[in-house]
Amino acid sequence: MNTPLLKESVNNIFKRHSSNEKTLQEICDLLKQNISYYNWVGFYFKNGNKEELKLAQFAGELTEHTIIPFGKGICGQVAVSNKNFVVQDVSSQDNYISCGWKVKSEIVIPIFVKNKNIGQIDIDSHSVNPFTKEDEVLLEFICEKVSQIL
Ligand code: SME
Repeated sequence: MNTPLLKESVNNIFKRHSSNEKTLQEICDLLKQNISYYNWVGFYFKNGNKEELKLAQFAGELTEHTIIPFGKGICGQVAVSNKNFVVQDVSSQDNYISCGWKVKSEIVIPIFVKNKNIGQIDIDSHSVNPFTKEDEVLLEFICEKVSQIL
């Protein structure tokens, strides 16, 4: 991963910003296209006043998991823990919602607006053990930028 170059591309996407939908879609596409082990990239946000997440923009295969109750799966757990969740091997997790047999690992980083956890970026990978601190740092940087446009 060439983090400085990716950060520059992220900054350019935010500079061009016309609509939130477009910006979030461009972020998903950028990450999926440029990081070989990112096989699915998506944003989930709190669904109104409900205790559930709703899928927003994503890049990768269609998923049936467009609504995820708080507490369920990796995503739902991050909605309540407010913490990054790095799963290097999904077979080690009991509370996991599978999006297909190909997915071997997952990373979820929460997005905060005024200290409130309002959503997250979710990455699925077909590799076992692919994520490093660099992924967390890049994704935290992106989540921080996203929080500024929400
Ligand atoms: N695996 C997630 C569900 C969402 S998909 O990865 C797109 C989870 O356990 O919450």
